[in-house]
Amino acid sequence: MYNSVKKYFKVLVLATAAQGLFASTAYAQDPGHYGLGRIATEEEIAGWDIDVRPDGLGLPEGSGSVSVGEGLYEAQCASCHGLFGEGEGRWPILAGGYDTLTDDRPQKTVGSYWPYASTLWDYTRRAMPFTAPQSLTVDETYAITAYVLYLNELVEDDFVLTKENFLTVEMPNADGFFHDDRPDVKNKACMKDCKDPASIKVISTIAGVSPTEHLEEGAEEESAGEAVNEHGKQVYKQSCAVCHDHGVAGAPKTGEADAWTDRIATGIDTLAKRANEGYMGDAGMMPPKGGNMSLSDEDVTAAVEYMVEQSQ
Ligand code: HEC
Ligand code: HEC
Repeated sequence: MYNSVKKYFKVLVLATAAQGLFASTAYAQDPGHYGLGRIATEEEIAGWDIDVRPDGLGLPEGSGSVSVGEGLYEAQCASCHGLFGEGEGRWPILAGGYDTLTDDRPQKTVGSYWPYASTLWDYTRRAMPFTAPQSLTVDETYAITAYVLYLNELVEDDFVLTKENFLTVEMPNADGFFHDDRPDVKNKACMKDCKDPASIKVISTIAGVSPTEHLEEGAEEESAGEAVNEHGKQVYKQSCAVCHDHGVAGAPKTGEADAWTDRIATGIDTLAKRANEGYMGDAGMMPPKGGNMSLSDEDVTAAVEYMVEQSQ
Protein backbone atom coordinates (compact mmCIF):
# COMPACT_ATOMS: atom_id res chain seq x y z
CA MET A 1 0.00 0.00 0.00
CA TYR A 2 2.80 2.34 0.90
CA ASN A 3 4.17 2.35 -2.63
CA SER A 4 0.89 3.18 -4.29
CA VAL A 5 0.29 5.97 -1.81
CA LYS A 6 3.72 7.22 -2.57
CA LYS A 7 3.04 7.27 -6.30
CA TYR A 8 -0.25 8.99 -5.75
CA PHE A 9 1.39 11.71 -3.77
CA LYS A 10 4.06 12.11 -6.28
CA VAL A 11 1.41 12.92 -8.83
CA LEU A 12 -0.18 15.35 -6.41
CA VAL A 13 3.06 17.05 -5.72
CA LEU A 14 3.67 17.21 -9.46
CA ALA A 15 0.39 18.95 -9.84
CA THR A 16 1.57 21.92 -7.84
CA ALA A 17 2.90 23.24 -11.09
CA ALA A 18 4.48 26.48 -9.99
CA GLN A 19 6.62 24.77 -7.43
CA GLY A 20 7.48 22.07 -9.86
CA LEU A 21 8.38 24.37 -12.72
CA PHE A 22 10.71 26.54 -10.77
CA ALA A 23 12.31 23.67 -8.96
CA SER A 24 12.49 21.47 -12.01
CA THR A 25 16.22 21.41 -12.46
CA ALA A 26 16.72 20.03 -8.98
CA TYR A 27 14.67 16.95 -9.84
CA ALA A 28 15.55 16.63 -13.47
CA GLN A 29 17.44 13.43 -12.76
CA ASP A 30 14.36 11.67 -11.41
CA PRO A 31 14.02 8.85 -13.97
CA GLY A 32 10.80 8.25 -15.80
CA HIS A 33 9.33 11.69 -15.15
CA TYR A 34 9.45 15.12 -16.61
CA GLY A 35 11.78 16.71 -14.20
CA LEU A 36 8.91 18.15 -12.23
CA GLY A 37 7.86 17.74 -8.64
CA ARG A 38 9.41 15.57 -6.00
CA ILE A 39 8.64 12.45 -4.08
CA ALA A 40 6.50 13.10 -1.03
CA THR A 41 8.30 12.72 2.28
CA GLU A 42 7.39 10.09 4.84
CA GLU A 43 5.99 12.83 7.08
CA GLU A 44 3.77 14.19 4.34
CA ILE A 45 2.37 10.75 3.62
CA ALA A 46 1.92 9.98 7.31
CA GLY A 47 -0.20 13.11 7.64
CA TRP A 48 -2.69 11.73 5.16
CA ASP A 49 -2.38 8.02 5.73
CA ILE A 50 -4.44 7.90 8.92
CA ASP A 51 -7.16 5.40 8.04
CA VAL A 52 -7.97 2.63 10.48
CA ARG A 53 -9.29 -0.61 9.11
CA PRO A 54 -11.97 -2.84 10.64
CA ASP A 55 -9.26 -5.37 11.49
CA GLY A 56 -7.45 -2.68 13.49
CA LEU A 57 -4.68 -2.06 10.97
CA GLY A 58 -3.66 1.58 11.17
CA LEU A 59 -4.43 2.03 14.87
CA PRO A 60 -1.53 3.82 16.56
CA GLU A 61 -0.14 2.78 19.94
CA GLY A 62 -2.13 4.35 22.71
CA SER A 63 -4.98 3.98 25.14
CA GLY A 64 -7.81 5.83 26.83
CA SER A 65 -10.33 5.04 29.55
CA VAL A 66 -14.07 5.55 29.73
CA SER A 67 -13.58 7.84 32.73
CA VAL A 68 -11.08 10.11 30.98
CA GLY A 69 -13.30 10.00 27.90
CA GLU A 70 -16.29 11.22 29.89
CA GLY A 71 -14.67 14.58 30.69
CA LEU A 72 -13.37 15.01 27.16
CA TYR A 73 -16.71 14.08 25.63
CA GLU A 74 -18.63 16.47 27.85
CA ALA A 75 -16.26 19.30 26.99
CA GLN A 76 -15.87 18.66 23.28
CA CYS A 77 -18.81 16.67 21.98
CA ALA A 78 -21.84 16.96 24.24
CA SER A 79 -22.85 20.44 23.08
CA CYS A 80 -23.87 18.91 19.76
CA HIS A 81 -24.32 15.21 20.39
CA GLY A 82 -25.96 15.48 23.82
CA LEU A 83 -24.67 14.38 27.25
CA PHE A 84 -25.88 10.83 26.63
CA GLY A 85 -25.35 10.75 22.87
CA GLU A 86 -29.02 11.55 22.38
CA GLY A 87 -28.20 14.45 20.02
CA GLU A 88 -28.97 18.10 20.77
CA GLY A 89 -31.51 19.66 18.44
CA ARG A 90 -30.87 18.25 15.02
CA TRP A 91 -27.27 17.13 15.55
CA PRO A 92 -26.61 13.43 14.99
CA ILE A 93 -27.59 10.91 17.66
CA LEU A 94 -24.66 8.72 18.70
CA ALA A 95 -26.26 6.25 21.11
CA GLY A 96 -29.40 4.17 21.45
CA GLY A 97 -31.78 3.16 18.70
CA TYR A 98 -31.40 -0.54 19.40
CA ASP A 99 -33.86 -2.77 17.61
CA THR A 100 -35.09 0.07 15.41
CA LEU A 101 -33.36 -0.98 12.20
CA THR A 102 -36.45 -2.64 10.80
CA ASP A 103 -38.69 0.28 11.74
CA ASP A 104 -40.09 2.71 9.22
CA ARG A 105 -37.66 5.32 10.44
CA PRO A 106 -34.72 3.48 11.97
CA GLN A 107 -32.42 5.27 14.36
CA LYS A 108 -28.97 4.56 13.06
CA THR A 109 -26.36 5.15 15.74
CA VAL A 110 -22.87 3.93 16.50
CA GLY A 111 -24.39 1.23 18.71
CA SER A 112 -27.43 0.24 16.67
CA TYR A 113 -26.01 0.44 13.18
CA TRP A 114 -22.26 0.74 12.81
CA PRO A 115 -20.64 -2.63 12.17
CA TYR A 116 -17.11 -1.67 13.24
CA ALA A 117 -15.75 0.18 16.24
CA SER A 118 -12.82 1.23 14.06
CA THR A 119 -15.15 3.55 12.15
CA LEU A 120 -15.85 5.43 15.35
CA TRP A 121 -12.16 5.78 16.11
CA ASP A 122 -11.27 6.80 12.57
CA TYR A 123 -14.21 9.19 12.14
CA THR A 124 -13.61 10.88 15.47
CA ARG A 125 -9.92 11.44 14.83
CA ARG A 126 -10.47 12.49 11.25
CA ALA A 127 -13.53 14.71 11.50
CA MET A 128 -14.53 15.61 15.06
CA PRO A 129 -15.12 17.84 16.88
CA PHE A 130 -16.93 19.35 13.94
CA THR A 131 -15.36 22.77 14.40
CA ALA A 132 -11.81 21.53 15.04
CA PRO A 133 -11.18 18.30 13.16
CA GLN A 134 -7.92 16.45 13.84
CA SER A 135 -7.29 18.41 17.02
CA LEU A 136 -7.57 15.35 19.29
CA THR A 137 -4.47 13.43 20.36
CA VAL A 138 -4.26 9.69 19.87
CA ASP A 139 -4.96 8.97 23.56
CA GLU A 140 -7.86 11.42 23.62
CA THR A 141 -9.32 9.65 20.61
CA TYR A 142 -9.05 6.30 22.41
CA ALA A 143 -10.70 7.75 25.52
CA ILE A 144 -13.57 9.42 23.68
CA THR A 145 -14.13 6.31 21.57
CA ALA A 146 -14.26 4.26 24.78
CA TYR A 147 -16.80 6.69 26.22
CA VAL A 148 -19.08 6.64 23.16
CA LEU A 149 -18.95 2.83 23.29
CA TYR A 150 -19.88 3.08 26.96
CA LEU A 151 -22.82 5.38 26.14
CA ASN A 152 -23.96 2.58 23.86
CA GLU A 153 -23.61 0.06 26.68
CA LEU A 154 -20.98 -1.87 24.75
CA VAL A 155 -18.25 -1.62 27.41
CA GLU A 156 -18.20 -1.24 31.20
CA ASP A 157 -17.45 2.01 33.04
CA ASP A 158 -13.95 0.83 34.06
CA PHE A 159 -12.99 -0.11 30.51
CA VAL A 160 -9.69 1.11 29.05
CA LEU A 161 -9.52 0.93 25.26
CA THR A 162 -6.12 0.17 23.74
CA LYS A 163 -4.70 -0.82 20.41
CA GLU A 164 -4.33 -4.35 21.80
CA ASN A 165 -7.88 -4.92 23.04
CA PHE A 166 -9.61 -2.96 20.30
CA LEU A 167 -10.94 -6.01 18.48
CA THR A 168 -12.53 -7.42 21.64
CA VAL A 169 -15.30 -4.80 21.39
CA GLU A 170 -18.34 -6.49 19.90
CA MET A 171 -20.60 -4.31 17.79
CA PRO A 172 -24.24 -5.47 17.84
CA ASN A 173 -24.76 -4.91 14.12
CA ALA A 174 -21.45 -6.46 13.03
CA ASP A 175 -23.27 -9.12 11.03
CA GLY A 176 -25.90 -6.75 9.67
CA PHE A 177 -23.95 -5.89 6.54
CA PHE A 178 -23.43 -8.56 3.97
CA HIS A 179 -22.83 -8.99 0.31
CA ASP A 180 -26.11 -9.41 -1.53
CA ASP A 181 -25.31 -12.51 -3.52
CA ARG A 182 -28.84 -13.43 -4.54
CA PRO A 183 -28.62 -14.57 -8.12
CA ASP A 184 -30.44 -12.70 -10.88
CA VAL A 185 -31.92 -10.13 -8.57
CA LYS A 186 -30.24 -6.96 -9.61
CA ASN A 187 -27.42 -5.32 -11.48
CA LYS A 188 -27.35 -8.05 -14.02
CA ALA A 189 -26.64 -6.75 -17.48
CA CYS A 190 -29.11 -8.06 -20.02
CA MET A 191 -27.32 -9.36 -23.09
CA LYS A 192 -30.18 -10.70 -25.24
CA ASP A 193 -33.97 -10.57 -25.59
CA CYS A 194 -33.93 -7.55 -23.37
CA LYS A 195 -36.92 -5.52 -22.36
CA ASP A 196 -37.75 -2.54 -24.51
CA PRO A 197 -36.06 0.33 -22.62
CA ALA A 198 -39.07 2.55 -23.34
CA SER A 199 -41.24 0.21 -21.32
CA ILE A 200 -39.08 0.36 -18.21
CA LYS A 201 -40.33 2.62 -15.48
CA VAL A 202 -37.56 4.05 -13.38
CA ILE A 203 -38.77 4.99 -9.94
CA SER A 204 -36.23 6.81 -7.83
CA THR A 205 -34.84 4.80 -4.96
CA ILE A 206 -34.33 7.94 -2.91
CA ALA A 207 -37.84 8.20 -1.62
CA GLY A 208 -39.59 11.34 -2.61
CA VAL A 209 -36.92 12.91 -4.76
CA SER A 210 -38.57 12.18 -8.07
CA PRO A 211 -42.29 12.62 -8.41
CA THR A 212 -43.72 9.17 -9.04
CA GLU A 213 -47.40 9.75 -8.45
CA HIS A 214 -48.17 9.59 -12.16
CA LEU A 215 -46.63 6.12 -12.23
CA GLU A 216 -48.65 4.73 -9.39
CA GLU A 217 -51.76 2.93 -10.40
CA GLY A 218 -54.93 4.27 -8.97
CA ALA A 219 -53.25 7.48 -7.84
CA GLU A 220 -56.28 9.40 -8.98
CA GLU A 221 -58.67 7.32 -6.94
CA GLU A 222 -57.18 8.09 -3.57
CA SER A 223 -59.69 9.44 -1.10
CA ALA A 224 -62.42 8.69 -3.57
CA GLY A 225 -65.78 9.56 -2.21
CA GLU A 226 -64.53 12.58 -0.26
CA ALA A 227 -64.47 16.06 -1.64
CA VAL A 228 -60.79 16.81 -2.16
CA ASN A 229 -59.35 20.30 -2.08
CA GLU A 230 -58.02 19.96 -5.63
CA HIS A 231 -56.01 23.15 -5.74
CA GLY A 232 -54.36 22.37 -2.41
CA LYS A 233 -53.61 18.86 -3.59
CA GLN A 234 -51.99 20.16 -6.74
CA VAL A 235 -49.77 22.64 -4.90
CA TYR A 236 -48.99 19.98 -2.35
CA LYS A 237 -47.90 17.43 -4.95
CA GLN A 238 -45.71 19.96 -6.70
CA SER A 239 -44.10 21.78 -3.82
CA CYS A 240 -44.53 19.96 -0.56
CA ALA A 241 -44.80 16.23 -1.23
CA VAL A 242 -41.07 15.85 -1.75
CA CYS A 243 -40.60 16.27 2.01
CA HIS A 244 -44.03 15.69 3.52
CA ASP A 245 -44.85 12.43 1.73
CA HIS A 246 -41.92 10.71 3.36
CA GLY A 247 -41.01 12.72 6.42
CA VAL A 248 -37.74 14.00 4.95
CA ALA A 249 -35.62 15.91 7.48
CA GLY A 250 -38.27 15.53 10.16
CA ALA A 251 -41.13 16.98 8.12
CA PRO A 252 -44.47 15.75 9.52
CA LYS A 253 -45.63 12.98 7.22
CA THR A 254 -48.91 13.68 5.50
CA GLY A 255 -51.48 11.06 6.26
CA GLU A 256 -49.79 9.96 9.45
CA ALA A 257 -52.17 11.13 12.15
CA ASP A 258 -49.51 10.82 14.89
CA ALA A 259 -47.36 13.48 13.32
CA TRP A 260 -50.27 15.84 12.93
CA THR A 261 -52.65 15.49 15.89
CA ASP A 262 -50.88 18.04 18.09
CA ARG A 263 -50.19 20.34 15.20
CA ILE A 264 -53.76 20.32 14.02
CA ALA A 265 -54.77 21.30 17.52
CA THR A 266 -52.92 24.60 17.05
CA GLY A 267 -55.35 25.44 14.27
CA ILE A 268 -55.08 25.55 10.51
CA ASP A 269 -54.60 29.32 10.58
CA THR A 270 -51.46 29.00 12.64
CA LEU A 271 -50.13 26.16 10.53
CA ALA A 272 -50.81 28.03 7.32
CA LYS A 273 -49.15 31.12 8.73
CA ARG A 274 -46.06 29.16 9.67
CA ALA A 275 -45.90 27.44 6.30
CA ASN A 276 -46.36 30.80 4.58
CA GLU A 277 -43.47 32.20 6.53
CA GLY A 278 -41.34 29.24 5.62
CA TYR A 279 -41.31 28.13 9.25
CA MET A 280 -39.16 25.11 10.02
CA GLY A 281 -38.62 25.23 13.74
CA ASP A 282 -35.21 26.28 15.04
CA ALA A 283 -33.49 24.85 12.01
CA GLY A 284 -34.46 27.72 9.78
CA MET A 285 -36.69 28.27 6.83
CA MET A 286 -38.92 25.72 5.21
CA PRO A 287 -39.28 25.87 1.47
CA PRO A 288 -41.11 26.80 -0.62
CA LYS A 289 -42.12 30.22 0.61
CA GLY A 290 -38.93 30.44 2.57
CA GLY A 291 -37.13 29.26 -0.53
CA ASN A 292 -37.37 30.88 -3.90
CA MET A 293 -40.55 29.34 -5.28
CA SER A 294 -43.27 31.69 -6.31
CA LEU A 295 -46.31 30.46 -4.43
CA SER A 296 -48.95 32.80 -3.16
CA ASP A 297 -50.10 32.74 0.45
CA GLU A 298 -53.35 31.27 -0.81
CA ASP A 299 -51.56 28.43 -2.60
CA VAL A 300 -49.66 27.51 0.54
CA THR A 301 -52.75 27.76 2.70
CA ALA A 302 -54.65 25.48 0.32
CA ALA A 303 -51.78 23.00 0.48
CA VAL A 304 -51.80 23.08 4.28
CA GLU A 305 -55.54 22.50 4.29
CA TYR A 306 -55.02 19.54 2.02
CA MET A 307 -52.27 18.12 4.27
CA VAL A 308 -54.46 18.50 7.33
CA GLU A 309 -57.44 16.92 5.56
CA GLN A 310 -55.32 13.93 4.63
CA SER A 311 -53.89 13.57 8.10
CA GLN A 312 -57.02 13.51 10.22
C1 HEC B 1 -20.42 21.70 16.60
C2 HEC B 1 -21.14 20.46 16.64
C3 HEC B 1 -20.38 19.17 16.83
C4 HEC B 1 -19.47 18.84 17.81
C5 HEC B 1 -18.96 19.72 18.94
C6 HEC B 1 -19.12 17.47 17.57
N1 HEC B 1 -19.78 16.99 16.50
FE1 HEC B 1 -19.79 15.06 15.83
N2 HEC B 1 -20.99 15.58 14.31
C7 HEC B 1 -21.46 16.83 14.04
C8 HEC B 1 -22.11 16.85 12.75
C9 HEC B 1 -22.74 18.05 12.07
C10 HEC B 1 -22.02 15.55 12.24
C11 HEC B 1 -22.51 15.03 10.90
C12 HEC B 1 -21.44 15.32 9.91
C13 HEC B 1 -21.76 14.78 8.55
O1 HEC B 1 -22.68 13.96 8.41
O2 HEC B 1 -21.06 15.18 7.62
C14 HEC B 1 -21.34 14.77 13.26
C15 HEC B 1 -21.12 13.43 13.15
C16 HEC B 1 -20.51 12.66 14.12
C17 HEC B 1 -20.43 11.22 14.10
C18 HEC B 1 -21.06 10.33 13.05
C19 HEC B 1 -22.51 10.14 13.36
C20 HEC B 1 -23.24 9.31 12.34
O3 HEC B 1 -24.09 8.50 12.73
O4 HEC B 1 -22.98 9.47 11.14
C21 HEC B 1 -19.72 10.84 15.20
C22 HEC B 1 -19.37 9.44 15.63
C23 HEC B 1 -19.35 12.06 15.89
N3 HEC B 1 -19.86 13.14 15.23
C24 HEC B 1 -18.59 12.09 17.04
C25 HEC B 1 -18.22 13.27 17.67
C26 HEC B 1 -17.31 13.31 18.79
C27 HEC B 1 -16.66 12.09 19.42
C28 HEC B 1 -17.17 14.62 19.14
C29 HEC B 1 -16.28 15.22 20.21
C30 HEC B 1 -14.89 14.95 20.08
C31 HEC B 1 -18.02 15.40 18.25
N4 HEC B 1 -18.61 14.54 17.36
C32 HEC B 1 -18.20 16.77 18.34
C33 HEC B 1 -21.35 17.93 14.89
C34 HEC B 1 -20.55 18.00 16.00
C1 HEC C 1 -37.54 20.68 2.01
C2 HEC C 1 -38.52 20.00 2.79
C3 HEC C 1 -39.87 20.64 2.96
C4 HEC C 1 -40.72 21.12 1.97
C5 HEC C 1 -40.48 21.16 0.47
C6 HEC C 1 -41.90 21.56 2.65
N1 HEC C 1 -41.78 21.36 3.99
FE1 HEC C 1 -43.18 21.74 5.41
N2 HEC C 1 -41.91 21.12 6.87
C7 HEC C 1 -40.68 20.60 6.65
C8 HEC C 1 -40.11 20.21 7.93
C9 HEC C 1 -38.73 19.59 8.14
C10 HEC C 1 -41.05 20.54 8.91
C11 HEC C 1 -40.96 20.33 10.43
C12 HEC C 1 -40.46 21.56 11.11
C13 HEC C 1 -40.36 21.32 12.60
O1 HEC C 1 -41.17 20.59 13.16
O2 HEC C 1 -39.44 21.89 13.18
C14 HEC C 1 -42.19 21.08 8.21
C15 HEC C 1 -43.33 21.51 8.84
C16 HEC C 1 -44.45 21.94 8.17
C17 HEC C 1 -45.68 22.31 8.81
C18 HEC C 1 -45.96 22.26 10.29
C19 HEC C 1 -45.54 23.57 10.91
C20 HEC C 1 -45.78 23.55 12.41
O3 HEC C 1 -46.12 24.59 12.95
O4 HEC C 1 -45.61 22.50 13.04
C21 HEC C 1 -46.55 22.69 7.83
C22 HEC C 1 -47.96 23.15 8.03
C23 HEC C 1 -45.84 22.58 6.58
N3 HEC C 1 -44.58 22.11 6.81
C24 HEC C 1 -46.37 22.90 5.36
C25 HEC C 1 -45.70 22.81 4.16
C26 HEC C 1 -46.28 23.18 2.89
C27 HEC C 1 -47.67 23.70 2.70
C28 HEC C 1 -45.33 22.96 1.96
C29 HEC C 1 -45.44 23.18 0.46
C30 HEC C 1 -46.08 24.38 0.00
C31 HEC C 1 -44.16 22.46 2.64
N4 HEC C 1 -44.43 22.38 3.98
C32 HEC C 1 -42.98 22.12 2.01
C33 HEC C 1 -40.04 20.42 5.45
C34 HEC C 1 -40.56 20.80 4.22
